[in-house]
Amino acid sequence: MTVKLFSPYSIKGVTLKNRIVMSPMCMYSSHNEDGHVQNWHRSHYTSRAVGQVGLIIVEATAVTPQGRISPYDLGIWSDEHVKGLQELVELAKEHGAKMGIQLAHAGRKAELEGEIIAPSALAFNEKSKTPKEMTKADIEQTVEAFKNGAERAKKAGFDVIELHGAHGYLLNEFLSPLSNKRTDEYGGNAENRYRILREVIDAVKTGWDGPLFVRVSANDYHEAGLTPEDYILFAKWMKEQGVDLIDVSSGAVVPARINVYPGYQVPFSETIKHGAGIDTGAVGLITTPIQAEEILQNDRADLVFLARELLRDPYWPRTAAKELGVEMEAPKQYQRGW
Ligand SMILES: Cc1cc2nc3c(=O)[nH]c(=O)nc-3n(C[C@H](O)[C@H](O)[C@H](O)COP(=O)(O)O)c2cc1C
Repeated sequence: MTVKLFSPYSIKGVTLKNRIVMSPMCMYSSHNEDGHVQNWHRSHYTSRAVGQVGLIIVEATAVTPQGRISPYDLGIWSDEHVKGLQELVELAKEHGAKMGIQLAHAGRKAELEGEIIAPSALAFNEKSKTPKEMTKADIEQTVEAFKNGAERAKKAGFDVIELHGAHGYLLNEFLSPLSNKRTDEYGGNAENRYRILREVIDAVKTGWDGPLFVRVSANDYHEAGLTPEDYILFAKWMKEQGVDLIDVSSGAVVPARINVYPGYQVPFSETIKHGAGIDTGAVGLITTPIQAEEILQNDRADLVFLARELLRDPYWPRTAAKELGVEMEAPKQYQRGW
């Protein structure tokens, strides 16, 4: 058997050395509340690069200050952010990892002082703030902010850009009829709810010709919400627009009870991959090498994203290689102990 987890994956001239992706994870560690990279980020991401992760996707990085989840999020709303991000990219690339960044806007889930914005003036739950309904000008500025973020990501040397369209943040809020009650061309039918994402993708692509991923929440877990089947249509549109891969997560657009178990989101990846004919990433309670290999061998996804397991074991790729009987090159400094 050829082990797929350790086979390379190429898109638009970028080759990942294996199919293991570090899923974006907020570190809330920009402790000066300015969105800048700190030592924590340098250690955290570089450790996973030393651990031989193929692609590291840097946490949700805000395209505007108002689009942060917390005051401690990383940011990319200013040219001043580029230098720190560039250092981070260089550190990780020294170890052969490719570097991605997740561009994000929190929408109504921003836990910040002052005004927050969303497609409709509906709070996420009773504890959260009611956002202001976005005007056309707000939408235009947000699209522009994603475009500028992508240009800065390019300057910083990232290999991959992922747009955060999941977990009930701004772009997801537009896609779901549960959070988008607009009556203009940005609300109503699927085409209208997709419009801002369409504009963001087009805007990003004016300055970015590298691999482009979009993370989606493929299930709202609500009878009036979206299902993986609904996402086939969005994924087809994304494919037409030149998106390379859909990173398939789920939930969090409205409060819901979710039955969570190993690989619970993998079937959604499978549905979108085969329904839209686009590459996908699977994520969510994938923890063992066998499980990751099964997903790839059965063509249920093209990449496997790991989050919490990589917090527990930054050298998980090494663990997986041992278990799957694959010879993996050690960083030369570690050869005596690998
Ligand atoms: C500490 C932490 C921070 C996270 N931050 C983000 C984020 O910035 N963007 C995102 O799309 N998902 C985020 N997630 C979700 C993960 O990327 C992943 O989808 C989720 O944890 C399920 O994968 P797992 O079971 O391997 O942990 C975060 C998860 C954790 C545990």
